[in-house]
Amino acid sequence: MAATEAQSKLAHVLPLGSRIDARGHLEVGGCDTVALAREFGTPAYVYAEDDLRSRARAYVEAMRVRCDAAGHAFDVLFASKAFPCTAAYRLFAAEGIACDVASGGELALALRGGFDPARIYLHGNAKSLAELREALDAGVGHVVLDSFDDVERLERVAAERGTRQAVLIRVTPGVAGRTHASISTGQADSKFGFGMDDARRAIERVRACDHLELQGLHMHIGSQLLSLDAYRPAVEAIATLGDFPVYNLGGGLGIAYTAEQQPPSIEEYVDVQVRAVTELVGSGKRLLIEPGRSLVANACVTLYTVQTVKRNVSTWVGVDGGMSDNLRPMLYGSLYEALLADRADRVGEGERCHVTGKHCESGDVIVHDVPLDDPRPGDVLVTPATGAYGHAMANNYNGIPRPPVIFCKDGDARVVVRRETYDDLAARDVD
Ligand code: LLP
Repeated sequence: MAATEAQSKLAHVLPLGSRIDARGHLEVGGCDTVALAREFGTPAYVYAEDDLRSRARAYVEAMRVRCDAAGHAFDVLFASKAFPCTAAYRLFAAEGIACDVASGGELALALRGGFDPARIYLHGNAKSLAELREALDAGVGHVVLDSFDDVERLERVAAERGTRQAVLIRVTPGVAGRTHASISTGQADSKFGFGMDDARRAIERVRACDHLELQGLHMHIGSQLLSLDAYRPAVEAIATLGDFPVYNLGGGLGIAYTAEQQPPSIEEYVDVQVRAVTELVGSGKRLLIEPGRSLVANACVTLYTVQTVKRNVSTWVGVDGGMSDNLRPMLYGSLYEALLADRADRVGEGERCHVTGKHCESGDVIVHDVPLDDPRPGDVLVTPATGAYGHAMANNYNGIPRPPVIFCKDGDARVVVRRETYDDLAARDVD
């Protein structure tokens, strides 16, 4: 396949600005991925910094145009669970967007990355007293209430501090987006938020709290949604709960993991959300959205080195990572593409292979049935679209140190999270 054809097949899966050079090498952020593997080792998460920035700007611009027209104020929140590291928080803080955190740990990282606490939203279906205290002591702008226990506990913590805390109430509207069951959240009887009837009671209860200021409602109906159909019915449901100044519509926009997947654009997603609130609730609101995956997933590729090629009934290409750096195939049966870094012009050519990790489980397969051009030990293998929930869910199974995170821009590469060492593996062992 000619370089341009290979490039265009995966263009929407690879980081923006990726190209295949004259030698057939894949470049990300202006850096040759073969050279990156040599310099930084593998496995490694390689991000194109410009891609992260440009998606944040696309979200802000899409919101600006549509919210201005409908008389809404707005904010875009980085759903930081998708990629929680200091450099990511710093980058998005510098882009001027806000941030949601799902725990005290993410809050600590967000503060370390320079986020203005007033622009941080704390989520969580089982927040601890300690986390609520940390959040209020830090001065977080909003806490998203998720249960009656949460309401009582936060009222107590705010009272202890003599403050009045701005809050949103998370509602599960009884409308689920079509996605993997583990990441569907909008259905009735969810562990998240208040069901519709409880939401009505929660609104009354919070309004009666001296130290909580109810500003509005939150919903997040699911993740990796490749259809936008569920958003409007979800807004329709929460619109029956009354009229509030603030609506946080969550995240969820799906991305292309494979060449065949064609997700809606950021503009289409924002259009559906803003239109739904404007038409079903009214104008002059403050609208918040919380993209995670669609901000960061396609900005990154993982680099591996092929260790073994085993020709059995199938061809098994074993690499130096796997379910420790990418749990998603194991958890959700997620599909990925794979290509060889120095034969990127031959995407789609060669024998069909399974790319496997090095872990002691048969399910540790990163990509099933992908054509690779005569893979050999020592080849650098690339899996695109690993920027969301990859680093975030990485683990040390089988004593594998977690990979570094490398940011690339205009041909320069810098390590923003270093590779773990064997000493790190023992760092918490006290005996
Ligand atoms: N807001 C809330 C309250 C959420 O729970 C989530 C994701 C988001 C925003 C961001 O959603 P996104 O735009 O990324 O779809 N580990 C799973 C994904 C779990 C998503 C959890 N919540 C995966 O790897 O697919």
